[in-house]
Amino acid sequence: MALVWKDEKYATGIQEVDDQHREVFVLVNELLSALESGESRQKITERLDILADHAVRHFECEEGHMDRLQCPVRVTNKCAHECFLRDFADLRELFDEQGNNPRFVSEVEEKVCGWLHKHLMAIDLVLRRSTSSADPS
Ligand SMILES: [Fe+2]
Ligand SMILES: [Fe+2]
Repeated sequence: MALVWKDEKYATGIQEVDDQHREVFVLVNELLSALESGESRQKITERLDILADHAVRHFECEEGHMDRLQCPVRVTNKCAHECFLRDFADLRELFDEQGNNPRFVSEVEEKVCGWLHKHLMAIDLVLRRSTSSADPS
């Protein structure tokens, strides 16, 4: 279940956030392909760590934009990010324990791909309304 980026579907209108979202889609899709093609444990671990680092940097940046714009979902967004990072740490642990297997792949699909899609649609996209209603000065 690869993630497919579409501006009209996912763009918030904030270039920095959209670039990071596009990048996270690329990293997640690369992780799924790596799992599918049976890349080495070390390579997959590296990909998981790169994705986690990217997520941490992105969350910080996006939360800054939401605070600046007084976005109505900024607290919900922060909580959702914390929740994701906890789930991702559990996933990382699962991979350390069991390695690449169908259960791990389906957990990545649900807790990373599924979460990203739902989170962008329900929360991050509120930025679209916040930017269009923001005072341009
Ligand atoms: Fe977010
Ligand atoms: Fe985001």
